[in-house]
Amino acid sequence: MISEILNKTGLSQSDIVTLLETQGEDRQELFKYSAGIKEKYVKNKVYLRGLIEFSNICGKDCYYCGIRRSNTKVKRYDLSEEDILNAAYYAYKNNYGSIVMQSGELASDKFTERITRLLKKISEFSEGKLRVTLSCGEQSYEVYKQWFDAGADRYLLRIEASNRELYHKLHPDDDLHSFDQRIKALKDLRKAGYQTGTGVMIGLPFQSNDDLANDLLWMKSIDIDMVGMGPYLEHKDTPLYQFRDLLLPKEDRLDLSLKMIAILRILMPNINIAASTAMQTIHPQGREKAIAVGANVFMPNITPCYVRGEYKLYEDKPCTDESPEDCRACVENRIASVSNDVAYGEVGDSLHYVQRQSKRQK
Ligand code: SAM
Ligand code: SF4
Ligand code: FES
Repeated sequence: MISEILNKTGLSQSDIVTLLETQGEDRQELFKYSAGIKEKYVKNKVYLRGLIEFSNICGKDCYYCGIRRSNTKVKRYDLSEEDILNAAYYAYKNNYGSIVMQSGELASDKFTERITRLLKKISEFSEGKLRVTLSCGEQSYEVYKQWFDAGADRYLLRIEASNRELYHKLHPDDDLHSFDQRIKALKDLRKAGYQTGTGVMIGLPFQSNDDLANDLLWMKSIDIDMVGMGPYLEHKDTPLYQFRDLLLPKEDRLDLSLKMIAILRILMPNINIAASTAMQTIHPQGREKAIAVGANVFMPNITPCYVRGEYKLYEDKPCTDESPEDCRACVENRIASVSNDVAYGEVGDSLHYVQRQSKRQK
């Protein structure tokens, strides 16, 4: 029985590994427990973030990602400012409360200025009421600060794998893909004032359950405000594809991802946890399952339809043929199917962030 572990005040690495390996009734008990923690701390409601994948142009070459620089089969796009603002306005008008602006990683003054301009315009039309999360990779502290001052509130930068050796197996060995730089960027984000988010891919080749347990403990140790994590999914035009025989079957990757979400909810009860798009790719009801065991954020895709198919990080990405309206209707049903409510009109700040801010002011 795992009750003894669940009722402890702190979980050790070996406790977490035991939880990741639960089966049958123990597994059900874990999920029931994490669902109870979620209800107690953040209620059974789900915040929406309209996801705008505004450009697939990327200067980096991560071995796992379908839009990496060296993949010449990708048709590159960069949405116009008008398209991006229209999508943001769609989220505002439909009471989503917040948006995520995501792209490949570019470091240039032109890119920086463009995002700054967009942030100011979004802040203007929404009178600061639409929260904006950025997910545009590693930037300098000055750039992060400039974007924060222009109206961005939150930033998502996954560590991908908190084990340095594993990180190096997933990225080229050069300055552009440095593990230390990634850690520094996360510190800079927090210093600049953001609600800071990170995450990992689950079920990667060469990854062990010890690694996953350490990932969760690392997230706790850096006192993160929000997490988006989900299964690793292969893409045939990437270098990591050659190791596909090492991968767990999809149902096992789904199972591990759900357990990771459940355990994280227990470890960090008041943070925001996203039900990632990859969860739905690996299983048609993957995002609902994530919500049932602890996730409280859902990111409906509001990218204009004509470019959606080009933002293929991995194969079989869902919602590529649907419109923002299709996703909106679909999302409501999905969330209702696991007895959660959509928090329309709520910005959905991470409670963890709100509480750490108020502690700072005391
Ligand atoms: N370029 C920015 C960055 O890397 O932080 C933001 C966009 S990037 C596409 C967003 C996330 O997609 C990455 O952090 C990574 O975890 C995820 N991703 C990329 N390829 C993936 C794959 N094959 N399977 C699962 N997730 C993947
Ligand atoms: Fe670029 Fe991000 Fe993909 Fe890496 S994960 S190749 S930085 S888009
Ligand atoms: Fe996009 Fe279902 S969430 S169509």
